[in-house]
Amino acid sequence: MEHKFPISMDLVASLVEIFQQENCRRRRRLHDTKMSQIRTIVFLIVVAQVGFLQGDEHNHIYHDNEEVVLWMNTVGPYHNRQETYSYFSLQFCRGSKEYIGHYHETLGEALQGFELEYSGLSIDYKVDTPGTVFCEIELTEEKLKAFIYAVKNRYWYQMFIDDLPIWGVVGEADDAKGEYYLYSKKRFDIGYNQNRIVDVNMTTEGKIPLKLGAKVPFSYEVNWKQSKVKFEDRFDKYLDPNFFQHRIHWFSIFNSFMMVIFLVGLVSMILMRTLRKDYARYSKDEEMDDMDRDLGDEYGWKQVHGDVFRPAARPLLFSALLGTGYQLLTVTVVVILFTILGELYTERGSLLSTAIFVYAATAPINGYFGASLYAQMGGKRWIQQMVTSVFLLPSVVCGTAFFINFIAIYYHASRAIPFGTMVAVACIVLFVVLPLTLVGTVLGRNLSGQSDHPCRVNAVPRPIPEKKWFMEPPVIVALGGILPFGSIFIEMYFIFTSFWAYKIYYVYGFMLLVFVILLIVTVCVTIVCTYFLLNAEDYRWQWTSFFAAASTAGYVYIYSIYYFIFKTKMYGLFQTAFYFGHMALFSLGLGIMCGTVGYVGSSYFVRKIYSTVKID
Ligand SMILES: *[C@@H]1O[C@H](CO)[C@@H](O)[C@H](O)[C@H]1NC(C)=O
Repeated sequence: MEHKFPISMDLVASLVEIFQQENCRRRRRLHDTKMSQIRTIVFLIVVAQVGFLQGDEHNHIYHDNEEVVLWMNTVGPYHNRQETYSYFSLQFCRGSKEYIGHYHETLGEALQGFELEYSGLSIDYKVDTPGTVFCEIELTEEKLKAFIYAVKNRYWYQMFIDDLPIWGVVGEADDAKGEYYLYSKKRFDIGYNQNRIVDVNMTTEGKIPLKLGAKVPFSYEVNWKQSKVKFEDRFDKYLDPNFFQHRIHWFSIFNSFMMVIFLVGLVSMILMRTLRKDYARYSKDEEMDDMDRDLGDEYGWKQVHGDVFRPAARPLLFSALLGTGYQLLTVTVVVILFTILGELYTERGSLLSTAIFVYAATAPINGYFGASLYAQMGGKRWIQQMVTSVFLLPSVVCGTAFFINFIAIYYHASRAIPFGTMVAVACIVLFVVLPLTLVGTVLGRNLSGQSDHPCRVNAVPRPIPEKKWFMEPPVIVALGGILPFGSIFIEMYFIFTSFWAYKIYYVYGFMLLVFVILLIVTVCVTIVCTYFLLNAEDYRWQWTSFFAAASTAGYVYIYSIYYFIFKTKMYGLFQTAFYFGHMALFSLGLGIMCGTVGYVGSSYFVRKIYSTVKID
């Protein structure tokens, strides 16, 4: 509990206190947050199409002397990127200006823990402000403790001017001497190009030693400079091409690409040859008379023709997973495409807002594919199936979020998702996702709910023969994920680094390419797995192919543990829970997607081979 901040007596008391603070703070906000959340929902549902490509109500155009708002966002330890607190939870003081023109918060921002609060500093467009003291604090014992704690833990804060992020450190520590300093002066150098802000630099100065009773005057200075940076390019300085377009990145993609070509060639060659041999053997068998055949050695995948199309165990769960997988695949592709086209990474929280919107809008896909598969497997409890489909992913996500939220509230972290936001998300699931899934379900049952398997299913299941240990489904599952993981793990490093460290991920073209490669490799590997399984006369291929493909995500999760230990310096309960909770969700989503692709590929393959063989 040593990272808790500020210090409080016991859990219950502090929870009550937080709720009160939360309420006060929200009431103090310049616009009513509830209204803004309701607006957010309406905005998301009705005008999202236009909304998320433009994102903000700002048009980023300023006239001379117009007010420019400096938003204070969060403060937190440098190594724990997600452990953030509202800026003013550290006892900084505000400037004197109280009124500002507009406030706006999107759902995505609320979910990602943005806590924009007005700084109270008056900044006007193209008006230089000389060094001005805007407030002063006296270091009482409590404040001193908090500041020393923050400086010791390398706390830094984030601010926004016209959507451009600015970072600054709280202070400087001389651990050897046990001396701590606070930076008291902020100097802003703002670059403008015609009537827009294109560049902001901040320098912190004015080291003041942290001593009991000392007075700290906070001051700021603003200098405006003409700049040649184009407005469209103003985010470029935050991107890191040296990191993302490093030779290793190109090389890894080239490598994976070669692997795909090799793998696809290999798989098709092996399968063609083996299958041709199998067919030849089977047709020779047919030419023999019954006597010979009884003595003959019939074996292999043809033997299970009466069972391969037997419905999977637990068809309800299986079809719900598949439906969710189809939906996730669509969401992923659409969001990546939107991001490439709309450069969404420059807008706070808009990537998440877009993802939520697309998720809600693609709910019919989930219903359609889930329900048709369920009906093909002969399922009757279709309402239950639909409800499972709808809530499968949201409930897991909300469960994890709730757990992390609980810790976040205890820590007073700004990552705690406000109650209103949770209600908004619940409303989206209940009133948008559920009805849309119902539409998809009805369509799915009626349009493609009939099974048209090439072989009849025998009444009595065939016993599964004993086989070598490496043909057992768990082993196949564990081996299935290795190659697909191998094709993506370098990209995983880049994605993790941008999420957990301070890099903005912007090479979404790479991401799309790697995603496509992953899907192709997954399909190839899963088909091979299915072939081996069926050849061992084990007909439980549905779940096996799903998990053989999904095990890639298991490797990703293991990799994320490695990443946590060796590549980051995160510490503390909150950040650890946040990290592993989010990685679990990420891996789960990836697993469902890969599993779906693997199953679909295998299912196509199984249909193909059994439809060409003559069954007596
Ligand atoms: C901000 O800093 C960069 C790098 O030092 C410099 O090139 C740029 O001109 C500065 N911008 C302003 C507005 O001072």
